[in-house]
Order: sequence, then structure tokens, then C-alpha cells
Amino acid sequence: MRILITGTPGTGKSSVSSIISRRKGWALLRLKDIAEKGCVIKKEGKEKIVDLGKLRSATLRELKGKKDAIIEGHLGCEFHLPVDFAFVLRTRPSALRRRLAKRGYPAGKIQVNLLSEMLDYCTQLSEQNNPHVLEVDTTGKSAKETSIRIIRYLEGKVKKLDQVCWKKELRKAALLHL
Ligand SMILES: Nc1ncnc2c1ncn2[C@@H]1O[C@H](COP(=O)(O)OP(=O)(O)OP(=O)(O)O)[C@@H](O)[C@H]1O
Ligand SMILES: [Mg+2]
Repeated sequence: MRILITGTPGTGKSSVSSIISRRKGWALLRLKDIAEKGCVIKKEGKEKIVDLGKLRSATLRELKGKKDAIIEGHLGCEFHLPVDFAFVLRTRPSALRRRLAKRGYPAGKIQVNLLSEMLDYCTQLSEQNNPHVLEVDTTGKSAKETSIRIIRYLEGKVKKLDQVCWKKELRKAALLHL
């Protein structure tokens, strides 16, 4: 089994993928780590601009020979990967704002990430690039609870996960900024 765990920064990809990897004994491929090894084109302040083609090729090389693996990272929605399922972690914008503020992100960075969450950026791209995409709402749940839900889905013990819609939040944000 190979899975992708993607989503907006702060939705819990690293925490959730660590738990699943530990519980299932599957290899964990972190796109951030792979990108560091020769896929960063340039740095803009603290932000790193990644060559997506190189990142995909490097990820495919790392996947070789691994029957079971979890690929984790927000850039995972940007291209096709040979996975059985792509899970998109979602978080209600108000809760995501709190998580990102806790990290000390500047206001502009929080805003960009919240907008991307409200516009379903990772879900839409994942659906363009992968056939089996599932959304998982992490709001009000611990990383452990979210991991268990994903594992139960993979084991066929639950048949469906979530379908989020932050339209109301998006409308409110748009009105506030007019
Ligand atoms: N339901 C949840 N699932 C996952 N993480 C959660 C959850 N609730 C709170 N958190 C917290 O949210 C924070 C963000 O988690 P994490 O670093 O795993 O996100 P990420 O998606 O990997 O972010 P990035 O893309 O920046 O690497 C952590 O402090 C984590 O403990
Ligand atoms: Mg992470």
C-alpha cells in the first residue's frame, strides 16, 4: 500500500504520517527532506522555491522497491504519484489560524495559507493528479484520532471519510476585506 498525505501547512501531515508509519511499519517519505537534497531552485527569505519536476523524480527514485510507503507533504498535490490513495487533511480556517499563529508565522503567511485552505487548493490539485482522493477533517480531533480514522479506512473498516466545505468562512473573509 502506498499513500500520499497532503494538505495546507498546519493541517497535521507530519504528525499524522509519523503515527501511521509507526503503527503500520511503513516507510515514510517526507517531501520536505527530499526537496532539500537538490530540488531547491532558490530561496526567497525563509521560503524555498522547489523544482517540482525534480522533486517528483527524486520521490519516484526513493519509492523504488518500497511496497508500502507514506509520502507526506503539501507539494504532493502538485503532481501525479503512483499511490493507491491520496488523503487531503483539512482544518476549519479558524482552527488552522490558531495552529499557524502558535508557530509564530507572520500575518501574511497565515493569510495565504488560510486562503489556500478555504479555496480547497490541495483537494482540487490532488483530484487533477490522482484518481483516489479522500478528504479528512482534522478539526477538533487529535493527530492520533485522525491517524486511526485513516488506518480504519485503509483496512476497510469505515467506508467513507469527510467532505469539507469552507464556503461560509470564505464568504465571511471576503466581506471583511471589502
Ligand atoms: N487533528 C490534528 N491532526 C494533526 N495535527 C494536529 C491536530 N490537531 C492539532 N494538531 C497540531 O497541529 C500542528 C501542525 O501539525 P504538523 O506540523 O503535523 O502539520 P503539517 O501539515 O505537517 O505542516 P507543514 O506543512 O508546515 O509541515 C501540530 O502542532 C499538531 O500537534
Ligand atoms: Mg509537516
